[in-house]
Amino acid sequence: MIIAIDGPAGSGKSSVARAVAARLSFHYLDTGAMYRAVAVGAMRRGIDLNDGVALRDFSKTRRISFAYEEGEVLPSRVFFGDEEMTDYIRSPEVDKAVSPVASCAELRDDMLVKQRMLGSKGNYVVEGRDIGTVVFPNAALKIFLTACVEERARRRSRQNEQRGLPSNYDEILQSLKDRDDYDTNREVAPLMRAEDAIELDTSNMSEGEVVQTVVDLAITVRDKVCGADGGVNDDNLEGIPEKLGPEYS
Ligand code: CDP
Repeated sequence: MIIAIDGPAGSGKSSVARAVAARLSFHYLDTGAMYRAVAVGAMRRGIDLNDGVALRDFSKTRRISFAYEEGEVLPSRVFFGDEEMTDYIRSPEVDKAVSPVASCAELRDDMLVKQRMLGSKGNYVVEGRDIGTVVFPNAALKIFLTACVEERARRRSRQNEQRGLPSNYDEILQSLKDRDDYDTNREVAPLMRAEDAIELDTSNMSEGEVVQTVVDLAITVRDKVCGADGGVNDDNLEGIPEKLGPEYS
């Protein structure tokens, strides 16, 4: 069973997706971290961030994998091939670079295969921008999280403060607006609510309330549609070649 959580930057996707996965003992996949890891790798090598073919060819040579901190139940470390990217992917430079990278159609093709291969191996909460519309259109439950941009900027600024990252509210507000604009208006897989997604405006909800709402919905869907063990996700692998190299495992 797949729970797709989409929404704009700072809508609370990551915190909610992680908490829901922990509560339900599901796996967790952060597709934004995958785009960010490719962006960091490409920046380090001087690859043109607008060259979709070069980005795809680069991305194709490596596996993107996630690892756990000791004692954690959800992964929080991200690797691009052997390079650990965890400490770099949330910087303001990468915030800026990731939207153009993610708007390259050729790169998205490779990411789609990687994401489907990863997410089809059991019960997953998958978060991103196009999970319910493109990556897992058959997801059992689709959630679209929103919040007004000012509230999202306040949240991101608090989060950055806790992580020791630059947390200037005005700069963050502008960066979120720019990214929203880019992600919503791009041609390929734009940020969009799937027709069958449930929209939750979290502007005036606590994180706990959002998590509880999604968990309740997920349990209902699991019990009524998927079966107690969540069922299989094979229908999400359609169109993926049967034989793929280890970069896709
Ligand atoms: O955490 P935040 O919402 O700020 O961003 P993220 O989820 O880490 O995603 C970073 C960027 O990757 C987004 O601004 C999108 O441009 C891109 N992205 C995407 O295009 N498709 C996805 N499924 C996930 C992220």
